[in-house]
Amino acid sequence: FQQRDAKFLYSATKAEHYRHLSEPEITFAGRSNVGKSSLIGAVLRSAGLVKTSKKPGHTSLLNFFSLTSSAHPAAISVVDMPGYGFRSRDEWGQFIIEYLSTRKVLRRVFLLIESKVGELKSTDCSFLELAEKHGVPVQLVLTKTDKLKRTSLDKISNAVVREAKEIGPTVVQPYVIHCSAKTKDGITAVQEEILRVCNV
Ligand code: GTP
Ligand code: MG
Repeated sequence: FQQRDAKFLYSATKAEHYRHLSEPEITFAGRSNVGKSSLIGAVLRSAGLVKTSKKPGHTSLLNFFSLTSSAHPAAISVVDMPGYGFRSRDEWGQFIIEYLSTRKVLRRVFLLIESKVGELKSTDCSFLELAEKHGVPVQLVLTKTDKLKRTSLDKISNAVVREAKEIGPTVVQPYVIHCSAKTKDGITAVQEEILRVCNV
């Protein structure tokens, strides 16, 4: 990621506003306040580019970013999703269904769980059901690991994967990435995974 340049591309709410580029795309999803925008800022090495907030429901649109490098002509599209709580459950559902079902370039969803919460909530389960239905691969990520001890993290990871696998047996990846936007723990792991799934 060293020589890569991240830039903000555009925001969208409806599928008709998505741009149809051929670049591989990856998305960050999860409950409000789980740390999606902060993690993207750390991963892109451009914290200033991605707005974060203490107040849940801060990101209210799909925000598209692009990652390119002079050495590599292929760009990757990175999407910051609004948290589940940002609208009524029905509206949120429609929004996500539209995105997951129409986005052919989508290579992986990074589904963020706050490590201190330590379990899947009903909205995470609904999201996993949709991902399974539309065949979108999901990478589980435990966030804000700076708030927890390593030993509890391993225990939580195992429990979360087991539960997620029951809902999304074909799409959920068998391992969990731990990370902290604050200490930068695990950021490299997320970056490597993005490059790997996008084949660049
Ligand atoms: P919405 O856009 O509302 O869905 O939230 P989000 O998931 O994008 O969360 P955001 O990145 O805006 O972060 C929410 C809060 O958590 C902010 O106050 C961040 O500073 C804090 N936060 C994010 N990542 C970390 C982390 O790794 N460690 C700690 N301690 N705090 C974090
Ligand atoms: Mg956000």
